[in-house]
Amino acid sequence: MRVVILPNAEAVAEFAAEEIASAVRHNPASVLGLATGGTPVGAYRRLIEIRKQSELSFKSVVTFNLDEYLGLAPTHPASYRCFMNENFFQHLDIPLAHTHIPLGDCDDIDAECLAYESKIREAGGIDLQLLGIGTDGHIGFNEPGSSLASRTRVKTLTSQTRRDNSRFFESLDEVPTSAITVGIKTILESRSILLLATGTGKADAIRATIEGPICSDVPASALQMHALTTIVVDEAAASELQRSDYYRQAEFERRRLRKKH
Ligand code: PGA
Repeated sequence: MRVVILPNAEAVAEFAAEEIASAVRHNPASVLGLATGGTPVGAYRRLIEIRKQSELSFKSVVTFNLDEYLGLAPTHPASYRCFMNENFFQHLDIPLAHTHIPLGDCDDIDAECLAYESKIREAGGIDLQLLGIGTDGHIGFNEPGSSLASRTRVKTLTSQTRRDNSRFFESLDEVPTSAITVGIKTILESRSILLLATGTGKADAIRATIEGPICSDVPASALQMHALTTIVVDEAAASELQRSDYYRQAEFERRRLRKKH
Protein backbone atom coordinates (compact mmCIF):
# COMPACT_ATOMS: atom_id res chain seq x y z
CA MET A 1 0.00 0.00 0.00
CA ARG A 2 1.20 3.48 -0.78
CA VAL A 3 0.34 5.91 2.02
CA VAL A 4 0.57 9.61 1.19
CA ILE A 5 0.30 12.08 4.07
CA LEU A 6 -0.45 15.66 3.02
CA PRO A 7 -0.82 18.85 5.07
CA ASN A 8 -4.56 19.44 4.59
CA ALA A 9 -7.79 18.56 2.80
CA GLU A 10 -7.00 20.93 -0.06
CA ALA A 11 -3.75 19.12 -0.81
CA VAL A 12 -5.59 15.76 -0.69
CA ALA A 13 -8.12 17.08 -3.24
CA GLU A 14 -5.33 18.40 -5.46
CA PHE A 15 -3.46 15.07 -5.34
CA ALA A 16 -6.61 13.07 -6.17
CA ALA A 17 -7.59 15.39 -9.01
CA GLU A 18 -4.10 15.13 -10.53
CA GLU A 19 -4.20 11.31 -10.33
CA ILE A 20 -7.60 11.18 -12.06
CA ALA A 21 -6.61 13.78 -14.67
CA SER A 22 -3.45 11.86 -15.44
CA ALA A 23 -5.43 8.59 -15.82
CA VAL A 24 -7.77 10.32 -18.29
CA ARG A 25 -4.90 11.93 -20.20
CA HIS A 26 -3.19 8.54 -20.46
CA ASN A 27 -6.40 6.79 -21.51
CA PRO A 28 -9.21 9.14 -22.63
CA ALA A 29 -11.63 6.17 -22.49
CA SER A 30 -10.82 5.37 -18.84
CA VAL A 31 -13.43 3.60 -16.75
CA LEU A 32 -13.58 5.46 -13.44
CA GLY A 33 -15.18 4.20 -10.23
CA LEU A 34 -16.52 7.23 -8.37
CA ALA A 35 -17.58 8.01 -4.82
CA THR A 36 -19.95 10.46 -3.16
CA GLY A 37 -19.86 12.06 0.30
CA GLY A 38 -18.07 15.15 1.54
CA THR A 39 -14.51 13.94 0.95
CA PRO A 40 -14.31 13.69 -2.88
CA VAL A 41 -16.07 17.02 -3.54
CA GLY A 42 -12.80 19.01 -3.40
CA ALA A 43 -11.23 16.65 -5.94
CA TYR A 44 -14.23 17.01 -8.25
CA ARG A 45 -14.04 20.82 -8.00
CA ARG A 46 -10.36 20.77 -8.81
CA LEU A 47 -10.92 18.42 -11.79
CA ILE A 48 -13.54 20.80 -13.16
CA GLU A 49 -10.93 23.60 -12.96
CA ILE A 50 -8.24 21.43 -14.58
CA ARG A 51 -10.65 20.64 -17.40
CA LYS A 52 -11.31 24.35 -18.02
CA GLN A 53 -7.64 25.26 -17.94
CA SER A 54 -6.22 22.38 -19.94
CA GLU A 55 -8.99 21.19 -22.26
CA LEU A 56 -9.03 17.81 -20.53
CA SER A 57 -11.93 15.95 -22.09
CA PHE A 58 -14.19 13.40 -20.39
CA LYS A 59 -16.26 12.70 -23.48
CA SER A 60 -15.04 9.10 -23.81
CA VAL A 61 -14.76 8.40 -20.07
CA VAL A 62 -17.19 5.91 -18.51
CA THR A 63 -18.05 6.09 -14.79
CA PHE A 64 -19.57 3.75 -12.23
CA ASN A 65 -20.55 5.11 -8.84
CA LEU A 66 -20.26 2.90 -5.80
CA ASP A 67 -23.71 3.17 -4.34
CA GLU A 68 -27.18 4.66 -4.09
CA TYR A 69 -29.75 4.87 -1.29
CA LEU A 70 -32.47 2.28 -1.63
CA GLY A 71 -35.86 3.87 -2.22
CA LEU A 72 -34.60 7.25 -3.48
CA ALA A 73 -35.51 8.19 -7.05
CA PRO A 74 -32.67 9.69 -9.16
CA THR A 75 -34.50 13.04 -8.95
CA HIS A 76 -34.52 13.07 -5.11
CA PRO A 77 -32.24 15.94 -4.01
CA ALA A 78 -30.35 13.67 -1.56
CA SER A 79 -29.88 10.88 -4.12
CA TYR A 80 -26.34 10.14 -5.18
CA ARG A 81 -27.43 10.60 -8.81
CA CYS A 82 -28.37 14.21 -8.01
CA PHE A 83 -25.17 14.68 -6.01
CA MET A 84 -22.99 13.49 -8.89
CA ASN A 85 -24.85 15.47 -11.55
CA GLU A 86 -24.61 18.68 -9.51
CA ASN A 87 -21.07 18.32 -8.17
CA PHE A 88 -19.38 16.80 -11.18
CA PHE A 89 -21.06 15.49 -14.31
CA GLN A 90 -22.92 18.64 -15.38
CA HIS A 91 -19.63 20.58 -15.36
CA LEU A 92 -17.91 18.15 -17.73
CA ASP A 93 -18.36 17.12 -21.34
CA ILE A 94 -19.18 13.53 -20.29
CA PRO A 95 -22.37 12.17 -21.89
CA LEU A 96 -24.78 11.29 -19.05
CA ALA A 97 -25.30 7.90 -20.74
CA HIS A 98 -21.68 7.09 -19.83
CA THR A 99 -22.36 7.67 -16.12
CA HIS A 100 -23.72 4.77 -14.09
CA ILE A 101 -25.23 4.80 -10.61
CA PRO A 102 -27.41 2.00 -9.20
CA LEU A 103 -31.11 2.84 -9.45
CA GLY A 104 -32.38 3.35 -5.90
CA ASP A 105 -36.06 3.10 -6.76
CA CYS A 106 -35.83 0.05 -9.04
CA ASP A 107 -38.64 -2.54 -9.04
CA ASP A 108 -36.40 -5.60 -9.00
CA ILE A 109 -33.41 -5.06 -6.71
CA ASP A 110 -31.66 -8.36 -7.45
CA ALA A 111 -31.92 -7.77 -11.19
CA GLU A 112 -30.59 -4.21 -10.76
CA CYS A 113 -27.58 -5.47 -8.76
CA LEU A 114 -26.77 -8.23 -11.26
CA ALA A 115 -27.14 -5.85 -14.19
CA TYR A 116 -24.79 -3.35 -12.51
CA GLU A 117 -22.07 -5.99 -12.14
CA SER A 118 -22.57 -6.99 -15.80
CA LYS A 119 -22.28 -3.39 -16.98
CA ILE A 120 -18.96 -3.00 -15.13
CA ARG A 121 -17.67 -6.20 -16.73
CA GLU A 122 -18.92 -5.19 -20.20
CA ALA A 123 -17.13 -1.85 -19.85
CA GLY A 124 -13.90 -3.81 -19.34
CA GLY A 125 -13.69 -3.36 -15.55
CA ILE A 126 -12.72 -0.31 -13.53
CA ASP A 127 -9.36 1.31 -14.26
CA LEU A 128 -9.25 3.66 -11.28
CA GLN A 129 -11.57 3.39 -8.28
CA LEU A 130 -11.91 6.46 -6.07
CA LEU A 131 -13.00 5.73 -2.49
CA GLY A 132 -13.90 7.59 0.66
CA ILE A 133 -14.07 5.78 3.99
CA GLY A 134 -16.75 5.77 6.66
CA THR A 135 -15.92 6.48 10.30
CA ASP A 136 -16.86 2.81 10.80
CA GLY A 137 -14.35 1.69 8.14
CA HIS A 138 -16.86 1.11 5.36
CA ILE A 139 -16.01 1.52 1.66
CA GLY A 140 -18.97 2.11 -0.61
CA PHE A 141 -21.74 1.09 1.79
CA ASN A 142 -19.99 -2.15 2.71
CA GLU A 143 -20.58 -1.86 6.43
CA PRO A 144 -18.58 -3.74 9.10
CA GLY A 145 -19.23 -7.46 8.76
CA SER A 146 -19.57 -7.28 4.96
CA SER A 147 -18.19 -10.28 3.14
CA LEU A 148 -14.83 -9.53 1.61
CA ALA A 149 -16.05 -11.60 -1.38
CA SER A 150 -19.22 -9.52 -1.84
CA ARG A 151 -20.73 -8.27 -5.09
CA THR A 152 -23.26 -5.52 -5.74
CA ARG A 153 -26.19 -6.01 -3.37
CA VAL A 154 -28.33 -4.30 -0.73
CA LYS A 155 -26.73 -3.49 2.62
CA THR A 156 -28.45 -2.24 5.75
CA LEU A 157 -26.81 0.98 6.93
CA THR A 158 -25.39 1.14 10.46
CA SER A 159 -26.81 3.77 12.80
CA GLN A 160 -23.34 5.41 12.76
CA THR A 161 -23.46 5.77 8.97
CA ARG A 162 -27.03 7.11 9.06
CA ARG A 163 -25.98 9.65 11.70
CA ASP A 164 -22.86 10.65 9.73
CA ASN A 165 -24.90 11.14 6.56
CA SER A 166 -27.87 12.89 8.18
CA ARG A 167 -26.20 16.22 7.33
CA PHE A 168 -27.28 15.68 3.72
CA PHE A 169 -30.96 15.28 4.77
CA GLU A 170 -33.53 17.44 6.58
CA SER A 171 -33.52 15.05 9.56
CA LEU A 172 -32.08 11.71 10.71
CA ASP A 173 -35.46 10.05 10.14
CA GLU A 174 -35.23 10.85 6.44
CA VAL A 175 -31.94 8.98 5.95
CA PRO A 176 -32.73 5.70 4.18
CA THR A 177 -32.04 2.52 6.17
CA SER A 178 -30.38 0.64 3.32
CA ALA A 179 -28.53 1.13 0.06
CA ILE A 180 -27.39 -0.69 -3.04
CA THR A 181 -23.60 -0.90 -2.99
CA VAL A 182 -20.91 -2.38 -5.18
CA GLY A 183 -19.28 -5.25 -3.25
CA ILE A 184 -15.79 -5.52 -1.81
CA LYS A 185 -14.72 -8.15 -4.33
CA THR A 186 -15.87 -5.87 -7.16
CA ILE A 187 -13.86 -2.99 -5.67
CA LEU A 188 -10.78 -5.22 -5.35
CA GLU A 189 -11.02 -6.10 -9.05
CA SER A 190 -10.35 -2.46 -10.01
CA ARG A 191 -6.94 -2.03 -11.63
CA SER A 192 -5.97 0.70 -9.19
CA ILE A 193 -7.55 2.22 -6.11
CA LEU A 194 -7.31 5.69 -4.58
CA LEU A 195 -8.78 6.11 -1.10
CA LEU A 196 -9.08 9.61 0.39
CA ALA A 197 -9.64 10.55 4.03
CA THR A 198 -9.54 13.87 5.84
CA GLY A 199 -10.20 15.00 9.39
CA THR A 200 -9.69 13.47 12.83
CA GLY A 201 -13.04 11.67 12.59
CA LYS A 202 -11.40 9.27 10.12
CA ALA A 203 -8.16 8.71 12.08
CA ASP A 204 -9.20 5.47 13.83
CA ALA A 205 -10.65 3.97 10.64
CA ILE A 206 -7.48 4.88 8.72
CA ARG A 207 -5.21 3.32 11.33
CA ALA A 208 -7.27 0.10 11.31
CA THR A 209 -7.34 0.05 7.49
CA ILE A 210 -3.60 0.41 7.04
CA GLU A 211 -2.08 -1.07 10.18
CA GLY A 212 -4.73 -3.42 11.52
CA PRO A 213 -5.47 -7.01 10.47
CA ILE A 214 -7.52 -7.70 7.33
CA CYS A 215 -11.00 -8.33 8.68
CA SER A 216 -14.60 -7.76 7.73
CA ASP A 217 -14.98 -5.66 10.86
CA VAL A 218 -13.01 -2.98 9.00
CA PRO A 219 -14.09 -3.46 5.36
CA ALA A 220 -11.47 -1.00 4.05
CA SER A 221 -8.72 -3.27 5.46
CA ALA A 222 -9.44 -5.57 2.48
CA LEU A 223 -7.51 -3.02 0.41
CA GLN A 224 -4.32 -4.46 1.92
CA MET A 225 -4.83 -7.30 -0.57
CA HIS A 226 -4.79 -4.94 -3.56
CA ALA A 227 -1.34 -4.34 -5.04
CA LEU A 228 -2.10 -0.88 -6.46
CA THR A 229 -3.84 0.94 -3.63
CA THR A 230 -2.90 4.50 -2.70
CA ILE A 231 -4.29 5.96 0.51
CA VAL A 232 -4.13 9.75 0.64
CA VAL A 233 -4.77 11.40 4.00
CA ASP A 234 -4.36 14.79 5.61
CA GLU A 235 -2.40 15.20 8.86
CA ALA A 236 -5.58 14.90 10.92
CA ALA A 237 -6.67 11.59 9.39
CA ALA A 238 -3.06 10.34 9.72
CA SER A 239 -2.86 11.28 13.40
CA GLU A 240 -3.34 7.73 14.75
CA LEU A 241 -0.91 6.02 12.35
CA GLN A 242 1.97 4.33 14.19
CA ARG A 243 4.30 4.24 11.20
CA SER A 244 3.69 7.70 9.78
CA ASP A 245 7.43 8.53 9.75
CA TYR A 246 8.04 5.47 7.61
CA TYR A 247 5.29 6.43 5.11
CA ARG A 248 6.75 9.94 4.80
CA GLN A 249 10.21 8.47 4.27
CA ALA A 250 8.86 6.08 1.62
CA GLU A 251 7.27 8.98 -0.28
CA PHE A 252 10.50 10.95 -0.06
CA GLU A 253 12.43 7.97 -1.47
CA ARG A 254 9.84 7.49 -4.18
CA ARG A 255 10.24 11.09 -5.37
CA ARG A 256 14.04 10.84 -5.15
CA LEU A 257 14.11 7.67 -7.29
CA ARG A 258 11.66 9.17 -9.80
CA LYS A 259 13.93 12.19 -10.27
CA LYS A 260 16.94 9.95 -10.80
CA HIS A 261 15.41 7.70 -13.47
P1 PGA B 1 -17.64 11.36 3.71
O1 PGA B 1 -18.16 9.86 3.52
O2 PGA B 1 -16.71 11.62 2.59
O3 PGA B 1 -18.90 12.19 3.63
O4 PGA B 1 -16.99 11.43 5.03
C1 PGA B 1 -17.23 8.87 3.23
C2 PGA B 1 -17.93 7.52 3.14
O5 PGA B 1 -18.92 7.30 3.84
O6 PGA B 1 -17.45 6.69 2.35
